[in-house]
Amino acid sequence: MPTVKITIDDRELECDDSLNVIEAAALIGEQIPHYCWHPDMAVVGNCRMCQVEVDSGRGFAPAIGCATKVADGMKVYTKSEKALNMRKEVLEFLFLNHPLDCPICDKAGECLLQDYYQEHGRYQSRLDDEIGKIAKSAKAVRLSDLIVFDDERCVLCDRCVRFCRDVEGKEELYIGGRGSPSKVMTFPGKELTGEYQLCLTDICPVGALTSEEFRFQQRVWFLDKTPSVCGLGDSGDNILIEHRDGKVYRIMPRRHDGISGVWVKDVSRLAYKEWEADRHRLSSPTHSNGSTNGADPLVHVADALKLLPQKNTLLVVDNRLTLEEAWALKSLFNRAGCTAVAQAESRLATGRGPNGYGLDLLGFPMLDKGTITSAERVLAVGDFNEADLKAMAGRDLYLFSAHCAGIPASAKVALPLAEHMERQGTMVNSQKRLQRIHRAFEAPLPNYTGIDIACNLARLLDVELEFSDQESCFTDLAGAVLERPGMRWKELGKLGLLLEGDENPKALSELSGHKRLTWSG
Ligand code: SF4
Ligand code: SF4
Ligand code: FES
Repeated sequence: MPTVKITIDDRELECDDSLNVIEAAALIGEQIPHYCWHPDMAVVGNCRMCQVEVDSGRGFAPAIGCATKVADGMKVYTKSEKALNMRKEVLEFLFLNHPLDCPICDKAGECLLQDYYQEHGRYQSRLDDEIGKIAKSAKAVRLSDLIVFDDERCVLCDRCVRFCRDVEGKEELYIGGRGSPSKVMTFPGKELTGEYQLCLTDICPVGALTSEEFRFQQRVWFLDKTPSVCGLGDSGDNILIEHRDGKVYRIMPRRHDGISGVWVKDVSRLAYKEWEADRHRLSSPTHSNGSTNGADPLVHVADALKLLPQKNTLLVVDNRLTLEEAWALKSLFNRAGCTAVAQAESRLATGRGPNGYGLDLLGFPMLDKGTITSAERVLAVGDFNEADLKAMAGRDLYLFSAHCAGIPASAKVALPLAEHMERQGTMVNSQKRLQRIHRAFEAPLPNYTGIDIACNLARLLDVELEFSDQESCFTDLAGAVLERPGMRWKELGKLGLLLEGDENPKALSELSGHKRLTWSG
């Protein structure tokens, strides 16, 4: 790719000639303020917030950074007096009718209007206090079940309109009216219908487009953010779990240009609500005779595994288990002399689930009726669908499950299992990319992860395993199955590892693995 030499704020820089001035400045750590520009959408240049001074050979002149491509010999000043004054004036217009909503605005803490005002604001208002604001606009307008619009906060950057039109392919939003009364709206009588509506709340640089789910629930600065991978489908979309005190408040996209960029479907981002609705968590061990008599409940499972014939014992895991959990259970099973293993669809996932492809690599075939029928005893770890549970209920069933729903009354033992956000480890998506998930918070006690189950049963059965925790288990399976002996978690980095085919580094932008939101360019 051709490169050019430019100077930004007297610093020389060599960069790709396809970049605009905002992107080039970002390479040397300079953030040029911007509202309408977004790295994944067309340039419109309507907010004028990114003004800089540019000399392309004919002397310095004002220019907007988003629509100005770098060229050889170009000189740019991002912080000259003129540039700062231009931004100050743009901000003064934007604040003319803006409400003093920050204390109750969901965007507070991550709002570009707040941030840029601190950097570029006029600070002394020229509005007459007696007159106050010039115009009031609509608040809390419902655009769909998911999105609520606050017109007063809108800076008319047009990102939402372009997103619907260019990314979703649905012309559902437009800016109607002229001049000061211009406003974002849906067509009369219509609502938003897209599958990526929550992305509108990410790309809106202010608090105008808000999520019905998240509205007024939590201040963003109180939220802990844990990088993870979607636990619903097999795409492996990168997410940030935003949580506080063991409760998830929202799921945000985390940029990965080798997968879905920053666009994550609403269904994935709201899956945690479904899991919560289904959240009658299995919180204490149950035994078919009514209690576990205060003993370590795993003893019942270990006793059952001792009473083999091993060939008649089957291990079934659901496709939301991590590679480490499934590998640990399979290793234990094999050491105990059992060989029959299978994977089944999780009731809480779609398609192959977040790790069905990973379980293929570990040698877990899909569960079928014949496999269950030929087993006398089943050790099942996961949240299974009704049909599979029904089939397994006909055998001696030892079940580990996160949720109570559907647990057969005939189960010999039912023990609590950790949920997706309470686990750590690795998973493989449909493109065969190995990625890490991180534990957002501890599961309510008592609970088990697959590793806990395997290691504790190994102790009770006097079986020796090659590993004692998740990370050493990963290294063990990386050598045994992935042909990468000695590999550690940290080698996966933020982008994971493509197990089949070659990574195209050019397809991964500088922003990949970025924790912050899409507009942070
Ligand atoms: S959009 Fe930003 S500046 Fe406006 S009220 Fe919300 S947080 Fe404050
Ligand atoms: S609603 Fe948000 S994204 Fe849409 S034009 Fe207004 S400020 Fe921009
Ligand atoms: S005009 Fe450049 S970001 Fe809006």
